[in-house]
Amino acid sequence: MKALEGIGLYFAYGKKPLFLNVNISISEGECVALTGPSGSGKSTLCHILSGVIPRSFEGNVSGTVRLFGNDIRSLSLEETVKRVGIVFQNPDSQLFSPTVEDEVAFGPENLCLEREEIGRRITASLDSVGMQKYRYASPAKLSGGQKQLIALASVLALEPKALIFDEALSQLDEDSAALVKHAIREQKARGKAILMAEHDPNNLDIADRVYAFSDGSLSEVTHA
Ligand SMILES: Nc1ncnc2c1ncn2[C@@H]1O[C@H](COP(=O)(O)OP(=O)(O)O)[C@@H](O)[C@H]1O
Ligand SMILES: [Mg+2]
Repeated sequence: MKALEGIGLYFAYGKKPLFLNVNISISEGECVALTGPSGSGKSTLCHILSGVIPRSFEGNVSGTVRLFGNDIRSLSLEETVKRVGIVFQNPDSQLFSPTVEDEVAFGPENLCLEREEIGRRITASLDSVGMQKYRYASPAKLSGGQKQLIALASVLALEPKALIFDEALSQLDEDSAALVKHAIREQKARGKAILMAEHDPNNLDIADRVYAFSDGSLSEVTHA
C-alpha cells in the first residue's frame, strides 16, 4: 500500500512558484530519500506531506496529498498524526518539556489516551531509540544526537505508520549522526514508511529509492 503520496503538487510561499507538478510516493516498509540543493524545496515538501503546511505554516498549495489512501484534507489532526510524524533538522525546535518523560508524554496526552496507555507508549518509544535510562533527565542537558533521539521518541509515541526526517542528521556530529541513523534503520526494519530529506550522499545508503529536486521539478534518480 502507498503510505505517503503527493500528486500534482504545486507550491508557492508568495506569487513565484517554488515547485510545480511534484509527484512522489512512498510505500509501506520503504525508505525514500529526498535530495536537492539548499533552498530547492525539500523542507517545504516534507511540511506539505506531513500536513504542517497548510495547517501551521502558510503558503499556496494545490494538488493532492494522500496518507495511506486518504486525502489529507479529509483527515482530522488526530488522524493525520497517527499516519505521519515528522522529525526536524534542529531538535531544539521540537523539545520544550522539563523532562524526557514529559516530552514523550505530550503527544499521547493530547490524544487524550488513558494513563496506562500513555505510560506504555513512553516506555516503548524510549526503548525503541535506546534512551530509557534518560527518562527523567532534562532534554536540555542531552547531546545533540540524544536530543534528536528524544524528538524521534516523542513522534513515535503517537505511533505514526510513516515517518519523515527533514535533514535530521545534518546538525549532528559524526557519532551522534550514527546513533540517529541507526534509529532510522531500526524504524525501517519495523516496517515504517520513511521519507528522509538528506543532503549528505553518505546517508543515502539506507534509502531504497532517491528523488531529487532540480529547478523546481522533482524526479526519481538512479540510486548508486
Ligand atoms: N516561510 C517561508 N516564507 C517564504 N519563503 C520561504 C519560507 N520557508 C522557506 N522559504 C524559501 O523557500 C525556498 C525553499 O525552502 P526549503 O523548502 O526550506 O528548501 P530546502 O529544505 O531544500 O533547503 C527557499 O528559497 C526558502 O528561502
Ligand atoms: Mg530544508
